[in-house]
Amino acid sequence: MSDKLQDLIEFDVEHIWHPAAQMKDYESFPPICIEKAQGPYLYTTPGSKYPDKILDIISSWWCNLLGHCNSEISDAISNQAHKLEHVIFANFTHESVIELTKELLTIVPHGLTHFNYADNGSSAVEMALKIAFQYKHQIGEKKRTKFACLSEGYHGETIGALSVGSMDLYNLMYKPMMMDNLHIEAPDLVFNPEDYPNKCLERAKEVFDKHGDELCALIVEPLLQGAGGMRMYPPEYLKALYDLCKEHNVLFIADEIATGFGRTGKWFACDHAGITPDIMCLSKAITGGYMPMSVVCVTDAVYNAFLGEYGEHKAFVHSHTYAGNPLACACALAVIKILKRDHIIEKAQEMGKWLSYEFKSRFENNDHILGIRHLGLINALEIVKDKATKERFDPKLRLGYKIYQRALELGLLLRPIGDTLYFNPPLNIQKQDLQNAIEIMDRAVGEILKEYC
Ligand SMILES: Cc1ncc(COP(=O)(O)O)c(C=O)c1O
Repeated sequence: MSDKLQDLIEFDVEHIWHPAAQMKDYESFPPICIEKAQGPYLYTTPGSKYPDKILDIISSWWCNLLGHCNSEISDAISNQAHKLEHVIFANFTHESVIELTKELLTIVPHGLTHFNYADNGSSAVEMALKIAFQYKHQIGEKKRTKFACLSEGYHGETIGALSVGSMDLYNLMYKPMMMDNLHIEAPDLVFNPEDYPNKCLERAKEVFDKHGDELCALIVEPLLQGAGGMRMYPPEYLKALYDLCKEHNVLFIADEIATGFGRTGKWFACDHAGITPDIMCLSKAITGGYMPMSVVCVTDAVYNAFLGEYGEHKAFVHSHTYAGNPLACACALAVIKILKRDHIIEKAQEMGKWLSYEFKSRFENNDHILGIRHLGLINALEIVKDKATKERFDPKLRLGYKIYQRALELGLLLRPIGDTLYFNPPLNIQKQDLQNAIEIMDRAVGEILKEYC
């Protein structure tokens, strides 16, 4: 490693606190310095002990939708930066946010008509929860103060978002700070397929029958519980949850932060079930991974409950400094234009089927691989100790983490969730790159498993 790079990394480890990490790990496994990126590839700073280029098969936390440094998005941001970089969004507006809102109206589920902008996924979720709560209050249903959510759900890491999440990894420490919500056991089609559909539906029905009149909203990640381990469930279950909400007069919040903009093979995961949520949260891929942005979309019915005379105090008093940021809007406009013009979602859906076939042919017969599944271009599988009994490896072995490290040495950014390995690449990735990723993953898995089996 060059001296300059060594200095950069030493400074980082000394002073920078990275996300979701035991920073002690960084002493033995320091961060990888990236100089530039193009398409699905990250290029390491010269002098790195890692390969010159690393294939980013997880789209940099699922947001990089159309490859890194896509020239059309880069031009859009640059043109906007020379015109208007930011303006207060209270009492002011600008052409980019208006054009973007027009575009969103053409793609979101029919009936979502009002759009409130923020700057990250967790903020959108906080906003959605507050809107649901205040909506019920303002239409006179003041006893409806609780939220329902699914087990293994993830909606971000601010306190409200954590309260409707069910992953101990993120929540446990902060339980005393959190709201008391109702957690419905979600389908687990890999480890407990026998529970689906009947038991899963019964569990949801039971919560609604018992607590339906206390609930203001149910929040779900439609079809894909990403951070929970790329758990997938069918559109029929989503529709059944939606129907329960309607039956019990509970708002339905779709957190499409990870699933929106073609990730599941359609514009939005809700489209698979043909439903329009009352409230929908978008972020991540909306700007192609260029700029932080999120949007909360609501129906007329929800929006209208916030209208009134000033003295009625019905306004939604909520703001973020970077709401409606013009640079982010310019990126989002470019993303939607490219998705529509180049039929990217349809092509990615086809590629997803091919990738699924390749995953199955390569990994299905491996004695330690279980639950190969796909949704759009997202393909996932589980590494287990014993396929027959579905026994998992001891988490203390940190097998997924070791596979992650080995794959990086071989030029692939894989980043498993526990022992769940997955691809969630840019939608315009080429077949050859996916083929390379499979080769590297296969090798990394094989080498690490050999040490433990
Ligand atoms: C479904 C879902 N909701 C919310 C979030 C939180 O978004 P952010 O990390 O931008 O706060 C995420 C992030 O992964 C997510 O996957």
